[in-house]
Amino acid sequence: MSQTPQTAPSGSERDHASGSSRPPAIVILDFGSQYSELIARRVRETEVFSLVMGYATTAAELKALAPKGIILSGGPSSVYEEGAPLCDPGLWDLGIPVLGVCYGMQLMVQQLGGSVVAAGRAEYGKAPLHVDDPVDLLTNVASGSTMWMSHGDSVEALPDGFVRLAHTDNTPEAAVANHARRLYGVQFHPEVVHSSGGMVMIRNFVYHICGCTPDWTTAAFIDEAIGEVRAQVGEKRVLLALSGGVDSSTLAFLLHQAIGDRLTCMFIDQGFMRKGEPEFLMEFFDQQFHINVEYINARERFISKLAGITDPEEKRKIIGTEFIRVFEEESRRLGPFDYLAQGTLYPDVIESAGTNVDPKTGERVAVKIKSHHNVGGLPKDLQFKLVEPLRRLFKDEVRKVGRSLGLPQEIVGRHPFPGPGLAIRILGEVTDDKLDILRDADLIVREEVRDAGLYDEIWQAFAVLLPVRSVGVMGDKRTYAYPIVLRCVSSEDGMTADWSRLPYDLLELISNRIVNEVRGVNRVVLDITSKPPGTIEWE
Ligand code: XMP
Repeated sequence: MSQTPQTAPSGSERDHASGSSRPPAIVILDFGSQYSELIARRVRETEVFSLVMGYATTAAELKALAPKGIILSGGPSSVYEEGAPLCDPGLWDLGIPVLGVCYGMQLMVQQLGGSVVAAGRAEYGKAPLHVDDPVDLLTNVASGSTMWMSHGDSVEALPDGFVRLAHTDNTPEAAVANHARRLYGVQFHPEVVHSSGGMVMIRNFVYHICGCTPDWTTAAFIDEAIGEVRAQVGEKRVLLALSGGVDSSTLAFLLHQAIGDRLTCMFIDQGFMRKGEPEFLMEFFDQQFHINVEYINARERFISKLAGITDPEEKRKIIGTEFIRVFEEESRRLGPFDYLAQGTLYPDVIESAGTNVDPKTGERVAVKIKSHHNVGGLPKDLQFKLVEPLRRLFKDEVRKVGRSLGLPQEIVGRHPFPGPGLAIRILGEVTDDKLDILRDADLIVREEVRDAGLYDEIWQAFAVLLPVRSVGVMGDKRTYAYPIVLRCVSSEDGMTADWSRLPYDLLELISNRIVNEVRGVNRVVLDITSKPPGTIEWE
């Protein structure tokens, strides 16, 4: 059957976007699966460098890139549907091993002459895998291993040269192979955490079938990144807006190693930081590590701009605009700078390069809500060139790099903190008094969650101040004061989240301390909303 790929952004566009001088050992072709990024992360966990590329990447492009293996992701379409996303059929003749996952397997089967039909019984959730042929792909995958299934279509007939490797109770062809051509397909998702033999299978594929070597290490990355930054920047000066978060802190350490004092970090204190944070950061970077940090005290400017403003979006906009203004003024004062360093990460690159394509139209789609960048809309006349050495990394890789460069756990392991800071955790108008209250309450939450040993298990734990007051009684006196909301969530990436089931004793301790120690608060309530439908922040 002759099949032409749908139009989608080409592969070369994305290679460039990855900012990588290192070619990927494994390419993941994305057919619109929610798990494509996860496959890339799992491969990298084996210390093998992988990149996600659009499904329409041509066989010629892949040949030029010469990966050692290709993984075809799952996807929401049916291969027999009109307009389903197809890969370049030339892919099968490149002689490069291919692993098709779910939709990727169905595509392989269909393009090579087998058939795929709507399954008699769709299969979702965990299923035990019965191994029929425990060789190459399934070496050391125990029969009975739990695998995560999520499919409405099934393989009905295998193409010539293919054999069954495993089945489940509902799916006869759960894993298949053409050993001679090194083409493999699995109907389940080895990349998800519920698949107990999944990592073994991924290791089998990348090491034994593709012959990859585990050379994507933190040390190798740091060496390469430092070399690339030096080559890019030469003797020029680089400016970095330091926020104190994991990304900008790791970036500061990396750039400092690469170019020393030609790096200037600018820390803009907008007045919405947590208690003790500006002092901690200055002491840490400037004094302890002798990394040049310009402290900009812009507290007055920000708070006065927010006077009388209650609408969340308006608050965010004002803070964002003011940030850019301060940044612009200060960079002119401290400059000139040729380069601006940004902590762009790989998930941002994948999105902006359009890897997430609508399988029906081949158009780019934003499957994620964009993360919020603090230095997003810089005015054009600033004319910076960008230095983005972290753009190849996932968040967990950034943490490893940070750790390896000597950043303490206190910074590397810290919870995300939004750019607009406490200003979006005070509902309604932001005032100095409310900021003081929230800072004190927030500190108690962090202290107690840490003392309970739960900090690292929780995605975020913080306090929110509501602009209403309620009645209470303290001693013999009636009080009329603000409530604090306790917001603690678990999450993988901030896109979805569940509220954390904190022990009652801990909740009681936090509540008692806040009500007793923070003036102006007489009540603590717990937010038990997941995301969706709630968001993690309240504004
Ligand atoms: P939401 O509230 O959208 O938050 O569920 C998801 C994640 O994003 C963080 N967040 C921000 N981070 N600037 C940032 O750098 C922002 O303006 C911003 N707003 C939300 C939030 O803390 C959570 O981790």
